[in-house]
Amino acid sequence: MTSAEIRASFLDFFASKGHRIVPSAPVVPHDDPTLLFTNAGMNQFKDVFLGKGTRDYTRAADTQKCIRVSGKHNDLEEVGRDTYHHTFFEMLGNWSFGDYDKREAIAWAWELLTDVWGLPKERLHATVFTGDDESFGLWTEVTDIDPTHVHRFGEKDNFWEMGDTGPCGPCSEIHIDLTRDGSGASLVNAGSPFVMEIWNLVFIQYDRREDGTLVDLPARHVDTGMGFERICAVLQGKSSNYDTDLFTPLIARIEEVTGRPYRGEDEQVAMRVIADHVRMLTFAIADGAVPGNEGRGYVLRRILRRAARFGRKLGMTEPFIWRIVEAVCATMGAVFPEIVARRNLVERIVRAEEESFDATLGRGLEIFEDIVRRMKRSNTIVMSGEDAFKLYDTFGFPIDLTALMAGERGLTVDVKRFEDLLFEQKERSRSVTRSRIAIAGGAGAEEIDLDIRPQDISRFQFVGYDRMETDAEVIGLRRTGERTYLVLDQTPFYVESGGQVDDTGTISARSTDLPVVGLLKNDRNIVHVLGGDLPVELGETVHASVDAERRRAIMRNHTATHILHAALRSVLGEHVRQAGSLVEPSRLRFDFSHYAKPSPEELAEIEDLVNGVILDARRVVHHRNIPFEEAKKMGALMFFGEKYGDRVNVIEVPGWSMEFCGGTHVHNTAEIGLFKILSEGSIAGGTRRIEGVTGEGVRRYLADLHKRLEEQKNESDDLRERIRRLEKEIARYRLERTAARLDELLAQGIVRDGVRIVSGRVDAADMEELKSLGDSLRGKIISGVGVLGTVIDGKVALVCVVTDDCIRERGLSAGAIVGSLARKLGGGGGGRPHLATAGGKDAARLDEVLASAPDDIIAGIRK
Ligand code: ALA
Repeated sequence: MTSAEIRASFLDFFASKGHRIVPSAPVVPHDDPTLLFTNAGMNQFKDVFLGKGTRDYTRAADTQKCIRVSGKHNDLEEVGRDTYHHTFFEMLGNWSFGDYDKREAIAWAWELLTDVWGLPKERLHATVFTGDDESFGLWTEVTDIDPTHVHRFGEKDNFWEMGDTGPCGPCSEIHIDLTRDGSGASLVNAGSPFVMEIWNLVFIQYDRREDGTLVDLPARHVDTGMGFERICAVLQGKSSNYDTDLFTPLIARIEEVTGRPYRGEDEQVAMRVIADHVRMLTFAIADGAVPGNEGRGYVLRRILRRAARFGRKLGMTEPFIWRIVEAVCATMGAVFPEIVARRNLVERIVRAEEESFDATLGRGLEIFEDIVRRMKRSNTIVMSGEDAFKLYDTFGFPIDLTALMAGERGLTVDVKRFEDLLFEQKERSRSVTRSRIAIAGGAGAEEIDLDIRPQDISRFQFVGYDRMETDAEVIGLRRTGERTYLVLDQTPFYVESGGQVDDTGTISARSTDLPVVGLLKNDRNIVHVLGGDLPVELGETVHASVDAERRRAIMRNHTATHILHAALRSVLGEHVRQAGSLVEPSRLRFDFSHYAKPSPEELAEIEDLVNGVILDARRVVHHRNIPFEEAKKMGALMFFGEKYGDRVNVIEVPGWSMEFCGGTHVHNTAEIGLFKILSEGSIAGGTRRIEGVTGEGVRRYLADLHKRLEEQKNESDDLRERIRRLEKEIARYRLERTAARLDELLAQGIVRDGVRIVSGRVDAADMEELKSLGDSLRGKIISGVGVLGTVIDGKVALVCVVTDDCIRERGLSAGAIVGSLARKLGGGGGGRPHLATAGGKDAARLDEVLASAPDDIIAGIRK
């Protein structure tokens, strides 16, 4: 039968006897603090035996993954040296929870072994607990076992207990005699590979309490356990578990990887150890254990180092154990798919752990040889605790590995002294350790060595939601002279997160006051970096204070960001979601998803809504450290795909917004003062950015605006004044120029028939100016007629003046003259005798008409 068939036939047999077939529990028990590893099939039913739990069935059977390397059941010493003990093994078991009892348990065990599997009856022996007459009698009553094969043993062999406490009871074991001639009766319970226990039937009826007393359980139960690897060896006719189909693929893979054959005593032991240990590591890691320095993790580390050292014996100096994991998965993955699912993880962890040990293993082995040589010279056979401790502390040799290696050389180790030294070291480290903490800060991730007491590492508290300053105890410290790195038991300093920037401020001790120049953090602590040497020691008190004004500005902007977010959703639509934000003291920046540019009206409405909530003076509610589920129920704004912790902080502006947020906020929206959007624009397709200010920022904005308006007003006053001056200048200049022109025209004037006639073209801006020019010409002529013409906007304008004497004595009239001249230019006009104006269209003919004006006037007189 293959191992798979054997496993299946066991389960089928008990299923046919009304048992529920249940899955194996994980080999790493996550809910029983008394156990490092699952060490028996009954572990998962402990609560049922103790009367604390129930199942919906009273009979069960399974194959259970077990590890026995610590606690009450520890077979490590034997593993590999013999062929039938393992750190990891499968235990086939069947159970009765207050249902059937000894009679059925014994009868069915016999039936399966002899009837179903056909084991020779004369090769089987049964043991019972000395005082258990009932079982003793049952063996011969319900089976046809040779009555001389039923033996009584004491508590050591036939009273089974799960651990120091817990369910227990007398047991009856079945052993198989593998001696050549079947003469092994005397070898039962003698630790011989030829007469081996294969099945243990435990009759659970007590609870072992912590004080050692036995208390009767409410009901009697049956708990059996059969070593699967052993029964496979027996049924497959092998003298070694490692020759069954459970192990041969592993041994073959080890031969392949090491390039050595499974031959020779030392090589075989080494390969068996490796095959066994790699199974243990694979199953333990797949179920969640990780190598480490304490407890369960240290068991894994010890096992791995043991395997690595046996690898050295096979010439392996590089990590190789991880390469055997695939063979474990191939052999057992069908029954335990979890190891296949986590194969990559297991390989990675095993390999990393091998690498870290390989770095010191070689040197450690040399030191070990030195120690042995020294011992030989001085004829000692007990290795000192100091030597063992050095191997442990410097080279990572677990004490059991050192003991094993010493044993191979016929030596022992002063384990007691080793343990004392270990204890002393632990005590020392309890006071202060230098631990390297990886922290993320402004300049990215860095690592810093800090003196920190381990018990203090998780003491840290952030008090900055309520306080801007506090006294605090120094629980972590590093002074470099130029910088001081401090971890405090509490701090008001907020470290950049969720867009809100770092706080600034000072920390003081013994009247030295230093600025905080950086804040760094890891998952548990905040490290304050001070710009100087603060005279302080671990355990002393410092005073930490945040720049409060700056922080209040930050809080205003942060709460305003939440109000803005809700306003955007209300005006633009519920699809709007935050894409990023920056909350500084001087401004806020909010990036959000939206497909189009908001109109000026929409922006104004958004701004109005925000200011409405601010002026409403709403109390801001800070829900701290509440369960995530509760926050969800309250309706806190959450987005698909975001990660939220188990416990969260929620900021609520009642009736307006409710968001997850770890930042710091004002207590009342009125503190924000006022909100003003400074800019809005696109930063990427579908993502827009608003920048805005609050409180002091708005005040500064208004002051700036006011100043700029004042400046503009002053500028325009200046401008007006300049224009006025220029206009005056221009007027004076023109006056001068026209006066000169009039003088010129006067000089060119002609006299006809005793009448002085002056005519010509002048520059004039409009008819008024032309009229006033005519006026001054009239004054200068003294006696005569003047005609001036100009072109304004493409049209002709004429003015004519006549002095009083010419009106009186010659009958001349300005109106008549200008009228007749204008008619020549396609226009007309007239006026009083001393001054009249007219307009015309034909600008091109102006000069000609002006030139002929004297003749026309005289002709007029002569008529
Ligand atoms: N719980 C019993 C044992 O582990 C069957 O041996």
